[in-house]
Amino acid sequence: MVRDLALFLGEMIRHPGEVVALAPSSAATARRMTEGLEAAVGPIVELGPGTGSFTRAILARGIAPERLTLMEMNARFCEELTHAFPGVTVLNRPAQEIAEIGLADIGAVICGVPVLARPKIQREVVGAAFRVMRPGGFFTQITYSPRPPISVEMRHELGLACEDLGTVWANFPPAQVFRFRAARTH
Ligand SMILES: C[S@@+](CC[C@H](N)C(=O)[O-])C[C@H]1O[C@@H](n2cnc3c(N)ncnc32)[C@H](O)[C@@H]1O
Repeated sequence: MVRDLALFLGEMIRHPGEVVALAPSSAATARRMTEGLEAAVGPIVELGPGTGSFTRAILARGIAPERLTLMEMNARFCEELTHAFPGVTVLNRPAQEIAEIGLADIGAVICGVPVLARPKIQREVVGAAFRVMRPGGFFTQITYSPRPPISVEMRHELGLACEDLGTVWANFPPAQVFRFRAARTH
């Protein structure tokens, strides 16, 4: 954990526009982010895993490593993730390429990539994820704001319904977790 923090802080200083957090997410946040994952069917993708807080929680939910693919832009984090999580597929690729990695019928996406107030990334990441998601699949997103990280207009454009999974106070700073699903059309 101390090693994770040191690595995280070092990369945050080197790449502040990408890491965009002061510390790795807490175990309590990771549990909230992965709630209900046991019921997911098919491949699971984690976007922006950093030092692996959510990865640990995904595997603790009983997801087989072979079902899990990580997409992380930071090469240094990828090296550590490959070492720490044998059997998990670690891709040093941007989350924007989720529809181009050969996966279909994805059961769930767990996302640590900051998307708040970044409509271009919302379209490119969240929109692309739902193109390769199975019916009933979900996209869970962390944010540090009490409001949903994807605006009403963008949810409408992407055809998404939003569920608030609540605040996790045991995180620095306190985190908010939202889950998105394809909205029912009938
Ligand atoms: C706020 S940190 C979260 C790390 C980890 N999920 C956690 O909660 O402790 C954001 C992570 O997303 C990665 N990242 C940022 N933009 C990305 C992108 N477009 N594609 C993939 N990873 C990205 C950063 O390198 C960083 O590891």
